Amino acid sequence: MLVKCVHLFGAWYTIGNMNYSNARIAEIAEMLKRRFGELENKADILKATELKALYAEIPTLPPEERAGFGKEINALRAELAQMVATQAEQTEALPSIDITAPFDINVPTDKRPNFLTSDHGSKHPLMTELEIVLDIFYRMGFTAVESREIDDDYHMFSSLNFPEGHPARDDYDTFMTVETDKNGKQFIAPAHTSTMQNRVLQEYKGNLEQGKPIAVLLPGRVFRNEDLDARHEHTFHQFEGVYVDRGIHAGNLLATFKTFLSEYYQQNIEIKSQPFYFPFTEPSFELALSCPFCQKKGCHICSQTGWIELLGMGMIHPNVLKMAGIDSNEFTGFAWGCGLERLVMMKYGIEDIRHFESANLNFLRQFA
Ligand code: DAH
Repeated sequence: MLVKCVHLFGAWYTIGNMNYSNARIAEIAEMLKRRFGELENKADILKATELKALYAEIPTLPPEERAGFGKEINALRAELAQMVATQAEQTEALPSIDITAPFDINVPTDKRPNFLTSDHGSKHPLMTELEIVLDIFYRMGFTAVESREIDDDYHMFSSLNFPEGHPARDDYDTFMTVETDKNGKQFIAPAHTSTMQNRVLQEYKGNLEQGKPIAVLLPGRVFRNEDLDARHEHTFHQFEGVYVDRGIHAGNLLATFKTFLSEYYQQNIEIKSQPFYFPFTEPSFELALSCPFCQKKGCHICSQTGWIELLGMGMIHPNVLKMAGIDSNEFTGFAWGCGLERLVMMKYGIEDIRHFESANLNFLRQFA
């Protein structure tokens, strides 16, 4: 604020705390202080060209005015330097920001975001669909255990029969932390829900001794280092199925999954399997289903083929059972890992997987 007061020998100009008797210096002081408020890097004010220009003026003045003029410029510079120092101190004194908090605690209370009331929101379509999937598997006798969003090398690879340096590890390129675990290995954002197999096999192996099967569904969010396009996302969801008992064979696997698909799409779905390779299953298959969108007539969803490759599955490798302490001579089992987005995209004819994580309300409201 500029406050003018009358002095016996002329006008004094007061800005903030300082008085400048020279009107030009007072005017520039006011302008620089205004600019100071807007500057991101406050120290830049000391490099202002206007300040330099004032110094350059000194030699052009009549000799008797030079000393007084110079003193006032120095005073202005000192005042600005003081403002820079004070600002830096205040910034340091601010509480550090908790990046997980819903708003910046340094923001005044009336400027903090208001939370939306619950009637503005709706369930994400993937969660609605996952509940339908879970419900079908509950009716088939499965229990559900949610997969982790951060895991370790042992569960991501070793426990699944990928030895150290195995080339198949490259198919699961994902994100890792800088921090390492006690074995010096980085933590991993899991590339598949299979990371949970060893845990649930161990947790539920007591079932087998009691003559009951292990039947677990493992839904979870998974991560891949992908080139993004309409069919590939870096973050997506899978649901893994794990089933172990005496005398289980691939026929049980195909029948179980065919039943699930027919329930989910509410129509009779045909399936066909072809051999594939996964280190954690033997034999391994890739499963294709008859296109639920065109009933095999051919459409843009199935690229006119009538069939859609959906997921990987197989008979759990004896080494995976052994690593969980299950006798692979006595018990056999099957497993699959199915992408949830793919399944849902086919149900509704969604053309681009990126819609799901886009937070685009026009997309989401169609499912509300
Ligand atoms: N984890 C595999 C993937 O994401 C999918 C998979 C294949 C899971 C075979 C299984 C399985 O449990 O038996 O590519």
